[in-house]
Amino acid sequence: MTAKDLKNKFFQYFQSQGHELISAASLIPDNDPTVLFTTAGMHPLVPYLLGEKHPHGQRLVSVQKCVRTSDIDEVGDNVHHTFFEMLGNWSLGNYFKKEAIEYSWEFLTKILRLDKEKIAVSIFGGNENLPDYDAQSEKYWLALGVKPERIAKITDNWWGPAGTTGPCGPDTEMFYWTGNAAAPAKFDPEDNQWVEIWNDVLMQYNKTATGQFESLKQKNIDTGMGLERTLAVLNGYDDNYLTELFQPIIKAIEKLSGKKYETDKKSFRIIADHIRTAVFMSGDRKGITPSNKDQGYVLRRIIRRAIRFGKALGLEQNFTSQLAEVIIKDYKTDYPELEKNEKFILEELIKEENKFRNTLSKGLKQFEKLVASKKLNEKTAFDLYTSYGFPLEITLELAQEAGLNLSKEKYQAEFQKHQDLSRTASAGMFKGGLADDKDNTKRHHTAAHLMLQALRMVLGDGVEQKGSNINEERIRFDFAYPDKLTPEQIKLAEDIVNEQIDKKLPVTWQEMTLAEAKKYGALGSFEHKYGEKVRVYTMGDFSKEICGGPHVDNTSELGHFKISKEESSSAGVRRIKAILEK
Ligand code: SER
Repeated sequence: MTAKDLKNKFFQYFQSQGHELISAASLIPDNDPTVLFTTAGMHPLVPYLLGEKHPHGQRLVSVQKCVRTSDIDEVGDNVHHTFFEMLGNWSLGNYFKKEAIEYSWEFLTKILRLDKEKIAVSIFGGNENLPDYDAQSEKYWLALGVKPERIAKITDNWWGPAGTTGPCGPDTEMFYWTGNAAAPAKFDPEDNQWVEIWNDVLMQYNKTATGQFESLKQKNIDTGMGLERTLAVLNGYDDNYLTELFQPIIKAIEKLSGKKYETDKKSFRIIADHIRTAVFMSGDRKGITPSNKDQGYVLRRIIRRAIRFGKALGLEQNFTSQLAEVIIKDYKTDYPELEKNEKFILEELIKEENKFRNTLSKGLKQFEKLVASKKLNEKTAFDLYTSYGFPLEITLELAQEAGLNLSKEKYQAEFQKHQDLSRTASAGMFKGGLADDKDNTKRHHTAAHLMLQALRMVLGDGVEQKGSNINEERIRFDFAYPDKLTPEQIKLAEDIVNEQIDKKLPVTWQEMTLAEAKKYGALGSFEHKYGEKVRVYTMGDFSKEICGGPHVDNTSELGHFKISKEESSSAGVRRIKAILEK
């Protein structure tokens, strides 16, 4: 069976049961600031699940493109993806558990003709909020002929909300046996030869901002069937990458690398998965570009991860855009936006790949210097990451090749220290920790260092920082200076800062005593606030300043610096407001 057949069968079946086919939404949700990506078919339906009237009625069916990065570390196995297509049917306050379960069973066994003997299900087993297990769903499954030992009661069978608030509820999941041996009589959800293919969410609660579960106005059904997994199962594969959805990509990687899929399945899978996701992200109608923020950061991370795994296959030249061409060709009939945005997708990939390869080669030079001067240790290895974005995995591999074993734990301890200091992980965004709404604050902090130095160059060494207030929107900065600044002085300070941004200066830091910091020539106007040991941030040879951070890793990440206001703050103190334009 082809993917097209599967989609058509799904649509036709649910249409014959009174469902209307609706089109897929963008990968970037419109109405949910708590998530970065559309992670399920229910996303665009949230208002209707909460009780709004949907223009297409109460029974809907669709296929939705989804991105889930919380599973990124599992990509590389046979069934996990960062991008996938989800088939779904919905009842918006119409039918509930009984019909939902009956439809699912009929579709799996009569339409797809899956072997009943290989199907198992799980139901909600109760948790601290709702202690009772879902006896109704159990009853409906039993009535359809599912054996009791093939029904598992699971505490975690709860889906949603997608972000921090919204509709959610217990669920019942369907699994298919993919092992070579006969399906065991008893269902063991821990055995990954049982692959989850479909999830019926019995959506009857709304999680509020205060963490309460209130009953929804209406009882809904929200189902999600993984297209890739189901297609694999229907074709007798125990590996989604063997399906027609991935084979052209896998073949292209084989051709580019001269290696066979069987020799390093993990790298092949990661590359195929990640580049497919990247194509859909930048090809979306809300097109994403790699950056250091939000969706752009996720995109950057997956492209770079694919390039790293490309190295394992010996792919040292740009390859991502060649794969993208294959993917666009494969998917353009169902997703015409990919063809429309093809030029943009390819250009973005090429740019990002060039940037990352450049980072890698700079980091490599620095690495070699460290080895030659016998200064390679976990701390300097970590500095390689902060200054050059040089990835840990590569550092560890190279160190091993050079006969120097670095401890991953010690390196990670450095990383932890850095993270605690820069507190970049944002609360609220969904699992995976990729979102970072504090990135702008870091950029502003970094720009403030450049600005202080620039003001000293323009106005003289009497300029001393008197206070600052930095947030995601802007820099507010007070400094000692007696006169109003002229437009020329402002322009000159801006130009100096922008010049340093253009120079792409690495931002690095070292710990030292206050005395050493003074000797080193670091600025620091609030020295009394700092403990005995201080951290000094250095930006190329332009700026040295005592500071607790957090900062970006390179001035090139700042964008365009602009002073938006200059005024008096108090006697002898001026106040500047400045912004970074993207
Ligand atoms: N929202 C549920 C899921 O993502 C069903 O679509 O699994």
